[in-house]
Amino acid sequence: MNIFHRLFMLYLYLFTPVLFVELSLLLYYAFKKAPVPSETKDPKKLRLYHVLSVFIFRLGKIFEKLGICNQIAFVRFVLNLALPGKEPNLLIRDTKFEQVPVRIYQPKTPSAQPRKGLLYLHGGCGIFGSNRGYERVCRHLARGSDLVVVYVEYRLAPEHEHPAQLSDCLTATTYFLNHSKDYGVDPNCIILAGESSGGALVAAINRELIKSSTTPKVQAQILIYPFLQIMDLSLPSHQQNHLGPGLTRKRAMKLGLVFIKGKGDDVERLMNNAHVPESMKTKYKKWLSADCIPEEFKSRGYKPPSPIPFSKELCELTRLNDETMLSPILDEDAIVQQLPKTYILTCEYDLIRDDGLLYKKRLEDNNVSVTWNHVKDGFHGFIMFIDIWPLEFSCTKNAFEDILKFIKGL
Ligand SMILES: *[C@@H]1O[C@H](CO)[C@@H](O)[C@H](O)[C@H]1NC(C)=O
Ligand SMILES: *[C@@H]1O[C@H](CO)[C@@H](O)[C@H](O)[C@H]1NC(C)=O
Repeated sequence: MNIFHRLFMLYLYLFTPVLFVELSLLLYYAFKKAPVPSETKDPKKLRLYHVLSVFIFRLGKIFEKLGICNQIAFVRFVLNLALPGKEPNLLIRDTKFEQVPVRIYQPKTPSAQPRKGLLYLHGGCGIFGSNRGYERVCRHLARGSDLVVVYVEYRLAPEHEHPAQLSDCLTATTYFLNHSKDYGVDPNCIILAGESSGGALVAAINRELIKSSTTPKVQAQILIYPFLQIMDLSLPSHQQNHLGPGLTRKRAMKLGLVFIKGKGDDVERLMNNAHVPESMKTKYKKWLSADCIPEEFKSRGYKPPSPIPFSKELCELTRLNDETMLSPILDEDAIVQQLPKTYILTCEYDLIRDDGLLYKKRLEDNNVSVTWNHVKDGFHGFIMFIDIWPLEFSCTKNAFEDILKFIKGL
């Protein structure tokens, strides 16, 4: 199709009653049915956020069918729209650690001693995320706690297959640990922070550093609504928050499949754990199952997944055989015991809330110091809205204050 043909198709499509009805129903349904926590102080804003996140993916799909651009490219484009504006207090520059692009945020005011440093590993399922989208988060952290923040622009899937993401982040981390003095940073005060899928990267990097016994060590890890495992996809939080807000269960499964194989089909069987052999379920029951989730977190509903035939093909696809790669929660005790001081933020209204709860338990059982903040009206993705007036949620501001408090207390 040439460009005129595509535009003509777009025109036809946009002005057909079918599309109009489809989109109106979608918007209405999403707005009305958006699961809004009763505790939230911003119910309308939350509904709007939910509707927009559903809508952007749907519109992307339509554009893909019309041959205009693919869905992932469209969503990436939208996520990059927020313009960051001026920042008088920080020196911001782009550079590379080895071959990995990074953006460094340094406070302009001189400091008598070396500062703390923080590497920020973004979320987005390894598919989305760019310095544009996380600019405000990084600035807020650097400004708020007088830190040097390094944002890592790791390669994205599906263009770059897993584990390219982990290897880029590991390269950037080891480089920073070894060259921190060049950036005015104390090598013994380096924090690794990650949100959502970035949480799995943080935990996996710490494992690799522990295994290779390099020095200096990471001082602390900060996990913000982390994704930490692909073995049990039917935990209480998956069931309770299957409709979002924002991230829905189906969307997450689809994106997960796009990440591991470039295509997002076959989500139903995955949601019911068809990819997990019985032997593994038994082996890891003590660490990773609904039994380890405190009862109070089951009060919004939970029923054990109905048995479903095991799929060898799905198992191979999800690389469960290499269990700890995408599921750092399954690392052995010998590794977990050596993990640094940890801050975990979980949100009640988050599909993957229970990953954070289970990891917290694993760390505590291994005597690792854990600071935990459970945000009762929080939802997946809420960190991104910091300093974006008028989209900022009150829970976003409070969460950042708590994170900054943890950093300052180190
Ligand atoms: C830092 O560099 C030294 C010497 O080049 C090396 O032995 C060490 O493993 C490096 N540390 C890290 C964390 O990469
Ligand atoms: C954790 O600390 C307690 C109390 O000091 C001790 O009894 C226990 O064995 C420790 N557990 C591990 C895994 O080190």
